[in-house]
Amino acid sequence: MSSLIFPENFLWGASTSAYQVEGAAHEDGKKSSQQDVINKENYAKKGFATAEIASDHYHHYKEDVALMKEMGFKAYRFSIAWSRVFPDGTGEVNPKGIQFYHNLVDELCNNGIEPIITLYHYDLPWALVERYGGWLDRQVIKDFAYYAEYIIKEFKDQVKYWTTINEQSVIVQYWTQKCYIPEELRNQDQLRYQINHHMNMAHAIACNLVHELVEGGMVGSAIGYAPVYPLTGKPEDVMAAQNAHDLENAYYLDIYFKGIYNKAAFAYLEKEKLAPIIEPGDMELIKSGISDFLALNYYNSSCAMACDSSVERRFAGVNWSGVKGQMDGYEIQPDFYQMCRNPYLNTTDWDWAIDPTGMEYMLRDIYTRYNKPLLITENGLGAVDYLTEDGKVHDSYRIDYIRKHLLAIKRAMDFGVEMIGYCPWSAVDLLSTSNGVNKRYGLIYVDRTDDDPKECCRIRKDSFYWYQKVIATRGEHLYEEDDC
Ligand code: BG6
Repeated sequence: MSSLIFPENFLWGASTSAYQVEGAAHEDGKKSSQQDVINKENYAKKGFATAEIASDHYHHYKEDVALMKEMGFKAYRFSIAWSRVFPDGTGEVNPKGIQFYHNLVDELCNNGIEPIITLYHYDLPWALVERYGGWLDRQVIKDFAYYAEYIIKEFKDQVKYWTTINEQSVIVQYWTQKCYIPEELRNQDQLRYQINHHMNMAHAIACNLVHELVEGGMVGSAIGYAPVYPLTGKPEDVMAAQNAHDLENAYYLDIYFKGIYNKAAFAYLEKEKLAPIIEPGDMELIKSGISDFLALNYYNSSCAMACDSSVERRFAGVNWSGVKGQMDGYEIQPDFYQMCRNPYLNTTDWDWAIDPTGMEYMLRDIYTRYNKPLLITENGLGAVDYLTEDGKVHDSYRIDYIRKHLLAIKRAMDFGVEMIGYCPWSAVDLLSTSNGVNKRYGLIYVDRTDDDPKECCRIRKDSFYWYQKVIATRGEHLYEEDDC
C-alpha cells in the first residue's frame, strides 16, 4: 500500500519571475527589458499596473524569504532579470544588479531554501530589441550564451537546479505579449516558430553550460503544458487531439529530450509554410543539449475538435476582463485541429479550465514517454482576493485548487512517476502577464492595486497557513478537513 506522505527530499516551495515581482525596474543601474515596454505600452492602456514597482520584491526580498522560511519552503524558483545584470544586454556587468541576486541566493541558502534559477522569463533587455530585433535575430543566441555563462559561473556552487527559458510553447501562442514584435511583423506567423528555433539553440547552450560548469547540476526547460483531450469520442476529434498534442506539446518535448523536431508537427508547419529556417549545425547544437529533468507549468488542460481547411488560422485567445465567458477566441490550425471549451470542466474567472485529473494524466504521460524526473514549477489559481477589515485573506478556493492538484501529483507518484518537487505559482502576489495585479496567485498577499502601489505590505493568506501545515506534515494534511 502506498504511503500518504511525500518523500523526505521532496522540494516544497513556490515560484515567481523577475519582472512580475521585483519592481525597481530602473533602479541601481537596471535598464528596461521588453516587458517594461510591453507592459507600459499595451497594458497600461487597459488600466493594468506596469512592471515599474510590481510587488517591490527588490526592497522586500528579506521579508519575503523570511515568510517562505516560515511556511517551511525547501525550494524557491525565481528568475534573473538579464537587464539588471547586463543593462545593455551584453558588455559590462552591473555590479549592483548581480549583487542583488547574490544577496537573494545567500539569504535563501542561509535559510535552508534551495534556489532554483530560471535564466529567462520573457524579459529580454530592451537594448537587444533596439539593436537587432531581439529574439527575431540569431545574434540573440550568442548574447544569451554570454549572459547565461556569466550567471551559471556566479552561482554554480550554490545552485543545483537550473531552468533555461520559460514556456516556449506559450511564447509561440502569445508572442506579442511575451516578446516585443513590431506592428508590421505581427501577421508573419512563421516568425513565431523562428523565434522558438532560436530559443531551442539558446536552451541547448545553457544545458551544455550547466553540464560543463555545475558539478551535479540538473538543467531543463520550464514548459507551459496543457494535455489535450478530444471533445468527443469521434475518431476525427481524437485525431485532432493527437495533432494538437504534437504541435503544442511534443514539438517542444522532443527537442528537450531527443534533440529533434516532432515529425508530424514539423510536417504540418512545412505544409503551412510556417516551419523555421534551420541552418547547418543548428540541429547538432540542439541535440548536444539534452535536458536532465523537465520543469512543468501546469494550470489547465485543453480540448480539441476536428476542423477542415476552410477555417482561418488563429492563435490562443485571452480573457482581458476576468468575467467568465469573455475569452476572445481559441486556437485554430486549419485542417489539423481547433481548440474549444471542455464542457465537462469548470473554469476560473479568466476561463482557464480547472482540471486536477489533467495533472495526473500529464505527469504519467510525460514520464512514460521520456522517463525523466519532473518538477512542478508553476500551478495555481488566478483569482480576485479580498482583504478583510481585520487584515485577513480567506482564499479557500485557492486551498481547494492546490489541494486537489497535490493529490493528483501524489497519485501519479504512486504510479511510479519520479517527482522532484512542487513549486506553485506564486510565492507572493505579483503582476500577471496579461491581467495586472488584480488577478492574484500568491500564498502571500501584497497590499497594492493596479492604480495604487501603496507600500506593498505583505499579509499571510489562509492558503499560507494551510500550505505551511501541508509541508510540515509532508502532505498528510491534504487528507484532513481544513481548519484555517
Ligand atoms: C505562466 C507564466 O504562463 O502563467 C507566468 O510562466 C504567468 O509568468 C502565469 O504569470 C499565469 O498567467 P497570467 O497571465 O495569469 O499571469
